[in-house]
Amino acid sequence: MTRVGREVRVRGYPAGPVTTGDFEVVEVEVPGPAPGEVLVRNTWTSVDPGLRLRLRPDAPAGYFVAFPLGEPMDGVMAVGEVVESCAEGFAVGDTVTHAKGWREYAVVDPAEVQLGGIGTLTRVELEGAEASWFLGPLGGMGLTAYAGLHVVDALRGGETVWVSAAAGAVGSLAVQIARLSGNRVIASAGSDDKVAWLQESLGVEAFNYRDGLDDRLGALAPHGVDVCFDSVGGDHLEAALDHLGRNGRVAMCGSISDYESEPKGPRNLFLAVSKDLTLRGFRGSSNLHLMPEMRQLIAGWLATGELVHRETVFTGLESAPHALAEMIAGRTIGKTLVSIG
Ligand SMILES: NC(=O)c1ccc[n+]([C@@H]2O[C@H](COP(=O)([O-])OP(=O)(O)OC[C@H]3O[C@@H](n4cnc5c(N)ncnc54)[C@H](OP(=O)(O)O)[C@@H]3O)[C@@H](O)[C@H]2O)c1
Repeated sequence: MTRVGREVRVRGYPAGPVTTGDFEVVEVEVPGPAPGEVLVRNTWTSVDPGLRLRLRPDAPAGYFVAFPLGEPMDGVMAVGEVVESCAEGFAVGDTVTHAKGWREYAVVDPAEVQLGGIGTLTRVELEGAEASWFLGPLGGMGLTAYAGLHVVDALRGGETVWVSAAAGAVGSLAVQIARLSGNRVIASAGSDDKVAWLQESLGVEAFNYRDGLDDRLGALAPHGVDVCFDSVGGDHLEAALDHLGRNGRVAMCGSISDYESEPKGPRNLFLAVSKDLTLRGFRGSSNLHLMPEMRQLIAGWLATGELVHRETVFTGLESAPHALAEMIAGRTIGKTLVSIG
């Protein structure tokens, strides 16, 4: 039987904000798995800001490689179901995660290390969880949020933690992990709806940064913050340097404010010297050793309802480019996903 499936390819690198015209959806013949491989029917695929960093001729040094033009986009997380297996340890019907997303079917070699290991083919036991959660709180998003707080020693509790891009996939988890660890959490996001969700559903103080970053942060934390979990960079990192107290720490998760434009600062870097600050960049995928403890903690909180998980779901593979543009523009809440078939 010849199987046919669709995949998204990059048509050209965007000069500014990403648009659907930068991609094409192509129908291809799907080969059967060779010995040692499995064929997966993808059911969910991830939409991540980091994809935008790879939509250029050269991705940032040390990061995952740029997507080649006119080829399937390797290195995007997906969840799927094994439909044919020629690999030991994988059976038809298994739920798996892997890194060949943005396509309907994927032939995957379990021996191939993907995305620093986080995207290597892995069988997951649902145990009451939704499959999509393995792209969110029980997957890379949970790991990134947990690892970021871990590397700046913010899991002890008793401190004031500011989380930026707080209504997003990583941010909403960082907010809750920090709060459930006993910290006071201040969250910022770019719309009143997001702020209301952060206050009412996630139970933290929150503000809309479009109403004034410095003023609002200063009003909520007149004596400064101890830790900033920052996904925005630019003006947000600048505000963090201004509002952190002595020995403050920044978990530098991302700098989405400059993914589609020229970098904007910060212009007050000397404060890192004068206040003995720690600016700690980190990658979730560099902290795979934390995955088991993160999963145990978050799965427990999800089961008791202490941790809230929200998704914005786009339907059909063809919606993936639109989903990416919507997410970067701030028009999604929680984890942005595409459901396939
Ligand atoms: N270090 C790692 O290993 C790692 C792993 C995954 C993700 N990340 C980073 O974590 C960050 C969040 O990723 P995510 O998947 O959770 O995405 P997300 O937060 O769900 O979506 C991105 C959000 O960023 C906000 N944003 C966009 N442009 C902005 C700007 N100029 N100023 C302020 N906010 C802006 C928007 O929300 P608003 O409406 O609030 O503006 C948007 O919804 C990104 O920087 C990403 O690169 C890092």
